[in-house]
Amino acid sequence: MNEPVYLDDSRNALIALDQTLLPHEQHRLELTTAEQVWEAIKTLRVRGAPVIGVSAAIGAYVAARNIVATTLEGFTAEFSKLCAYLNSSRPTAVNLSWALRQMQSALRGDTRDAWLESLRECALEIYRNAILDTESIAAHGLTLVKRDCGILTHCNAGRLACMGKGTATAPIYAAHDAGYNPRVYADETRPLMQGARLTAFELHQAGLDVTLICDNMSASLMKSGAIDAVFVGADRVAANGDAANKIGTLAVAILAKQYCVPFYVCAPYSTIDAGTPTGADIVIEQRDPTEVSHMWFSRPSTSPGVKVYNPAFDVTDAELITAFVTERGIVRGPYNFFG
Ligand code: MRU
Repeated sequence: MNEPVYLDDSRNALIALDQTLLPHEQHRLELTTAEQVWEAIKTLRVRGAPVIGVSAAIGAYVAARNIVATTLEGFTAEFSKLCAYLNSSRPTAVNLSWALRQMQSALRGDTRDAWLESLRECALEIYRNAILDTESIAAHGLTLVKRDCGILTHCNAGRLACMGKGTATAPIYAAHDAGYNPRVYADETRPLMQGARLTAFELHQAGLDVTLICDNMSASLMKSGAIDAVFVGADRVAANGDAANKIGTLAVAILAKQYCVPFYVCAPYSTIDAGTPTGADIVIEQRDPTEVSHMWFSRPSTSPGVKVYNPAFDVTDAELITAFVTERGIVRGPYNFFG
């Protein structure tokens, strides 16, 4: 099984590749309780909006197997508590609450076996659709890619974050398969290095031409004409087209505008949140300061007591986005996703 997360029925477990150990170690976790799934999402062992959604769905199903209630009413109440708990693991990626809502609405049947089967079916449908979405994003995104072009991406919206072909990487994989020879530049993505540890790793493994750059190098690359397009993912897209993605994405979008480089956000509809009117309404996760000051360094990078600001995401204004690439097609502004 090549997907980063999947259901193992024989062990009633969510199997998850521990992304905190990549690229050096490929270790699969076997998660069977709500606490284990919550911890895996919180600490980014599983990460990326679509994979968080799939993990929550499968995780909710396997954890529901531990519920002892004997009536549908009792089971439903316990399952709602379980979903609320999983939903508290990370605030920004809307696929988490979206998947858990789907699971809660799917719960039905007359017996305990039937309740569990309805949850299993829903989790597997979310899993399968996540993969199919990336295939469609690949096909639509390919129409935006030229031969021998330079593509910049930020963070990791690849298969590790999104299943299948990834979202931001889907047009890139499609271009590679079509013989277009794309040259990919991967921002390393401080502070958690998803670009270096995950994007460069997965593209290199797949045989693509990928070059790792520090986050502060994209301006000069764009100015030099090496970048023909930017493809990034999203964690939550507001109804007006403002898009939250990994911290640093906004800076890339502003640079792209300056140097007339098209800036595309690739995301499935499960990442578009009709209930969030604008980017100002998106809750931005604040993470542990030590991710900035201690992680990756053999000694802390700063003096003890220095204040650290560590937002995990920023919001790119809709007007900086050339188009969204979704599984339903390419959507251009003014944005009206559900109209
Ligand atoms: O904190 P992470 O690693 O879960 O954040 C993931 C991102 O922000 C990715 O860049 C991605 O575009 C969103 S997931 C497709």
